[in-house]
Amino acid sequence: MNFTELSKTRQSCRKYNPANDVENEKLEAILEAANLAPSACNSQPYKVTVAKGSKAKEVAKATTGMGMNSFTADAPVMIVIAEGSYSKTAAMGAKVKGNDYRSIDIGILSAFITLKATELGLGTCILGWFDDKKVRSLCGIDTPVRLIISLGYPEDNYPLRDKKRKAISDYVSITE
Ligand SMILES: Cc1cc2nc3c(=O)[nH]c(=O)nc-3n(C[C@H](O)[C@H](O)[C@H](O)COP(=O)(O)O)c2cc1C
Repeated sequence: MNFTELSKTRQSCRKYNPANDVENEKLEAILEAANLAPSACNSQPYKVTVAKGSKAKEVAKATTGMGMNSFTADAPVMIVIAEGSYSKTAAMGAKVKGNDYRSIDIGILSAFITLKATELGLGTCILGWFDDKKVRSLCGIDTPVRLIISLGYPEDNYPLRDKKRKAISDYVSITE
């Protein structure tokens, strides 16, 4: 798939096939792709925890509530992304410029993870709704968890949805 095809094929998967585990080679390929993601001052300020087996189920439970994210129960893998340490230069840049590079970097990392997974025929959903305290305690993490990505094979015949997006002109302006 070229980039345009990948972008159109990646979608939030909300129905996983619980019988299909994610092969270790595919997981490794996703992590290799994620490791190529750019970050401010190249500091890669994140900690990634790959939850599998019963741990994935526990993390999945911590993403549910108020009708949200019950589909994660069938995802064989949950990728938990928490803040890590800035390098000295990134920390200085963030302070001087008042910008939250860590969350930006985690967003870019997530794009790499989800697009690589799509290339490999896997389904993902980026999750921003979860119980931070519970996930931290489950995974032994001592920094804020920013995103979780559910990963697995979509159920058979899971439909590819058309993208609903704003008109580009709604948010892009060109100035010279
Ligand atoms: C930061 C972030 C948080 C999100 N949190 C959730 C979530 O908790 N549950 C969910 O079902 N989808 C979640 N999504 C998925 C979005 O709803 C989805 O990306 C958007 O509707 C576009 O649909 P698509 O991913 O299928 O193209 C999240 C996406 C992002 C980028």
